[in-house]
Amino acid sequence: MTAETTPLLVIDDVVAEYRTGSRVVRALDGADLTVGRGERVGIVGESGSGKSTLGLLTGRLLPKATAYPRGRVLVDGESVLDLPPDRLARLRRERLAFVPQDPVGALDPTLRIGRQLRLALRDKPTDLVALLERVLIRDPERVLRLYPHEISGGMAQRVIVAMAMARRPALLIADEPTAALDSQVREEVLRLLFTLAAEHGTTVLWLSHDLGGVARWCDRIAVMYGGRVVEDGTTTDVLTAPQHPYTAALSAADPARAKDGTRLLTIGGTPPVLTESTPGCVFCPRCTSADDTCATARPAPRTVEGRTVLCHHPGPGGTPVPVPDGPAPKAAVPDGQEEA
Ligand SMILES: Nc1ncnc2c1ncn2[C@@H]1O[C@H](COP(=O)(O)OP(=O)(O)OP(=O)(O)O)[C@@H](O)[C@H]1O
Ligand code: SF4
Ligand SMILES: [Mg+2]
Repeated sequence: MTAETTPLLVIDDVVAEYRTGSRVVRALDGADLTVGRGERVGIVGESGSGKSTLGLLTGRLLPKATAYPRGRVLVDGESVLDLPPDRLARLRRERLAFVPQDPVGALDPTLRIGRQLRLALRDKPTDLVALLERVLIRDPERVLRLYPHEISGGMAQRVIVAMAMARRPALLIADEPTAALDSQVREEVLRLLFTLAAEHGTTVLWLSHDLGGVARWCDRIAVMYGGRVVEDGTTTDVLTAPQHPYTAALSAADPARAKDGTRLLTIGGTPPVLTESTPGCVFCPRCTSADDTCATARPAPRTVEGRTVLCHHPGPGGTPVPVPDGPAPKAAVPDGQEEA
């Protein structure tokens, strides 16, 4: 395999357990995901399904007490769980970037924006005014002199995106980057993020609850449940014709699609908090298609209708999420921009 054909990211049967005293939470329970260069992958799933754990795993950024009883993680062919500290630091610096949910919280409140950018990019001399202009910040000289509490959430997230993309990372992990923003700013930040990623050839993992947004911006979608990727395929395939009962239930419960005056469907029961591997399918207690096999045999990955599905009885079902025709919209300079 050449460097170009090696997948950028391989997550292979990873188990990750948070350990605090005698308490164990098995956040990943045999997670698999392979991502090629330049792909835009949306990772979706209910709260607690393991999205953030999977994202942080790519840079071995989980708490020190996390145990990995099984599995491997390869970024650009390098085994992240085995790298010595200096090579891990280099991998994080040179190839990975993270955009968190809370941009203001991610910035140091005691330092002006300009100083933070200079510190973050100290080994990479960068024209900071041009950098902020590239993320559509008006009057960048003034913004560089401000403290984080003096700028809006939307502007703070643009600063974080600028910081993340300045190094032209191979892989960007964006963990609900727009959850704290209002809807207009949200779309602008997503447009910026995906446009810069396309320009730099950066692969994007977008961890999200926004199925409609993922349909607009991602080529591929991986649906997580109980610490595993239970359905993985092209966005169009998975969202318009889900094969896993959980994907179907998740899309039917998408609040963005609730029509006025109609009751929103919900998924009965609650997501699991695992402490160990379950013998059968972890969705079994909530699944309307479950049978005896589901309770006792753990589903293995299988290919169904062009995507990977972890289910003993896959099949069409649920309400499809509309997916826009053609490629995701490209960047455009927004008409207005909210003030700092
Ligand atoms: N630091 C931690 N210590 C102990 N348990 C944790 C820790 N972080 C996450 N968990 C647990 O691990 C499981 C997976 O959590 P994770 O944050 O990865 O889910 P998520 O899909 O990102 O959820 P959300 O949509 O709410 O962000 C959950 O049961 C969560 O409570
Ligand atoms: S394996 Fe069985 S319980 Fe699990 S999702 Fe499929 S049908 Fe439902
Ligand atoms: Mg999360």
